[in-house]
Amino acid sequence: MTTSSAPGKVYLFGEHAVVYGEPAVPCAIERRARVTVEARHTDERLRVQANDLTLDGFTVTWGGETEDRPDVDVPTPLVEAAMGYIDGAIEQAKDAAEVSDIGFDVTIESDIPLGAGLGSSAAVVVATIDAASRELGVDLDSEVLADRAYQVEHEVQDGEASRADTFCSAMGGAVRVQGDDCRRLRDVPNLPFVVGYDGGTGDTGELVAGVRALKEEYEFADDTVEAIGDIVRNGEAALEAGNLEEVGRLMDFNHGLLSALGVSARSLDTMVWAAREADALGAKLTGAGGGGCIVALDRTEQTHTALEYTPGCEEAFRADLDTDGVRPEE
Ligand code: PMV
Repeated sequence: MTTSSAPGKVYLFGEHAVVYGEPAVPCAIERRARVTVEARHTDERLRVQANDLTLDGFTVTWGGETEDRPDVDVPTPLVEAAMGYIDGAIEQAKDAAEVSDIGFDVTIESDIPLGAGLGSSAAVVVATIDAASRELGVDLDSEVLADRAYQVEHEVQDGEASRADTFCSAMGGAVRVQGDDCRRLRDVPNLPFVVGYDGGTGDTGELVAGVRALKEEYEFADDTVEAIGDIVRNGEAALEAGNLEEVGRLMDFNHGLLSALGVSARSLDTMVWAAREADALGAKLTGAGGGGCIVALDRTEQTHTALEYTPGCEEAFRADLDTDGVRPEE
């Protein structure tokens, strides 16, 4: 039996603009998915048990064929996506270890809300590949692991995934992603993140398409995307200089531009304003938008407390920058 864990992430800067070649800075947070695997030599099936905030505990036995869909009481697309990720991750581990005729029992425990801009699927994929490859006697370097995890997301999301979530989850810390060029930022101070979650989710495909349409119609929307790229470049410098006040100011600016591009929502704006009024250093939506999470920077307890009393905020939690990426667990 082998267990690995991998962190979720927030976007400090740059979501949506990253789709058009601008840089983005995702950061790993202290909220993890833990995956335990046990190889079975009697058959080649995959048995998955998930205990998750949204998927309220389900057990499935799955042979990898779509007609063999698990019989569980959660929306089919969610189960299909979840199983696609896990099946893909196990295939990557088998490929790395050059074995084929083996089955696995997989148990997933995740503290990361699903589909809310916190990179839950990437964390599960990264932890699954790590645990399963170690179970098969292979230790993958984190960059190789990040790439294998990206291949899985790319396939499940029909080529729409960026490398941000998987690279960040595998490496930990604050990372910079621009197209295929990914690296970890050095000398980053601790980032006291506070996350507010509205309990909902946004449709990433639809939101990305909306921004693309605006960009095609208006030159100033195109300029807005470029301006987000400028914010990211300034943000990187502020981060490496340890200037959290400036990082916060740039997060506020980034949220304003995302809002102008139509990807915020009333619930997200309400939480962002609650954080600002609680004297957070900065606050913005994280991920695709439309619903899900905001991230604020606050060294004090004030933003956390304010969010807990904000109507429409279903859950608020502190989660510092996690400098560890994927790691083995006992
Ligand atoms: O909501 P998330 O964490 O999947 O982030 C989406 C980020 C986008 O920039 C909107 C899309 C992408 O693939 O980069």
